[in-house]
Amino acid sequence: MSASPVFEGDFFSDSVIADPLAAYRQMRETGPIVWLPENNVWAAVAYQPCLEILRKPKLFLSGRGLSLNDEVNNILIGSTLHSDADRHRRQRSITATAIMPDALTSLAPAIERAADDVAEAVCSAGRFDAVAEFASILPLSIVVDLVGLPAHGKARMLEWAAATFNLFEGFNERSRASFQGLRELRDFLNEFGKPEKMQHGGLARRIFDEAPGKGVAPDEAAQMIRDYIAPSLDTTISTAAFLAWHFSDAPDQWQLVREDESLVANAVEEVVRLTTPIRAFSRYVAEDVEMHGVSMKQGQRVLVVYASANRDETVFPDADRFDVTRKTHRHLGFGQGPHMCMGMHLARLELHALVRAMAERVTSWHLDGVPQTAMNNTIRAFSYLPMRVERA
Ligand code: HEM
Repeated sequence: MSASPVFEGDFFSDSVIADPLAAYRQMRETGPIVWLPENNVWAAVAYQPCLEILRKPKLFLSGRGLSLNDEVNNILIGSTLHSDADRHRRQRSITATAIMPDALTSLAPAIERAADDVAEAVCSAGRFDAVAEFASILPLSIVVDLVGLPAHGKARMLEWAAATFNLFEGFNERSRASFQGLRELRDFLNEFGKPEKMQHGGLARRIFDEAPGKGVAPDEAAQMIRDYIAPSLDTTISTAAFLAWHFSDAPDQWQLVREDESLVANAVEEVVRLTTPIRAFSRYVAEDVEMHGVSMKQGQRVLVVYASANRDETVFPDADRFDVTRKTHRHLGFGQGPHMCMGMHLARLELHALVRAMAERVTSWHLDGVPQTAMNNTIRAFSYLPMRVERA
């Protein structure tokens, strides 16, 4: 076997986070799986190896943690995202049922009303920050009300979620600064993660109702509340803000959506593909394996770069173009395999409602200043996105 392809950049550096697409392209041109000496990890960057890794959970484990830093993994191992096989199935069956499409039907009217309120507010304002005033409102209010945490937890949710995502790398300044947030979330769940402290009818309380029947101890159940906190907010918020940005950048695509409501769902998937809010997660290599021209050794880690797979021209021709009519169904923005996003139905419900509410009211979106990138090791997002809309 010839020498492994190598990408010399730091995947988690400020420059790659600020302009990731050029780095992904360079990595894909280097090889389908490349070695990152700077981060001491393999990176699957073409579509096919990413798909294969996600679909081989016995060979590429989640249960040894998804972070490159084992100090972080020691705190997170055992959550749904960080577990394998039976334990994973058991946990997922407890937290996923309440956010599957059937269970969400009853929530749809409230989500649509909340989306209308957001759309009305930003249209009345005319100019707004699409992160704080458009993208964040709905996911925060829905998740917060749905989960039913005590007030203290609600206020800190966004901070804890961002901290968790910073820690998947684990060694740079950003991740060191985030340790405190991760510990606070763990301690909060240890202290307040008791059924009597959660609101009646909320998702968190439901975990405690289901857990005993599935052999899950109360302290384990408390940590499972993470499933609704860490992965749900930044991801949905990032996508909603990028929707605004893409529609301002490609007004013709906004006109298509306004003229044909049946395109709304596909437009949202296209933005999930292009944004890929979770850039990458790692897997632990359980056995020596040769694939796509490289030899990975047992005990090494491989990053599955969903964001690069979603720009692979062999699967998505003219991949950088925003096209609301494109066939999007193969995108990996929600992952694949047994760990595929369990909150995607809720995220879609919220995002579809937001786009519909705006399509009824807005003829065009305009960038109204200089956007700022959120500097997070895992999440791709704007931290500030000045927008102006023209009302119909
Ligand atoms: C646009 C919004 C979202 C995106 C792009 C997204 C993306 C993802 C991705 C890529 C994964 C796969 C992780 C892996 O391969 O290891 C995942 C898993 C997960 N997501 Fe989401 N997510 C979104 C919204 C949500 C929401 C709203 C929730 C909860 C209410 C949620 C909860 C979860 C959970 C619990 C997992 C772990 C599933 C498992 O390990 O079986 N996500 N998400």
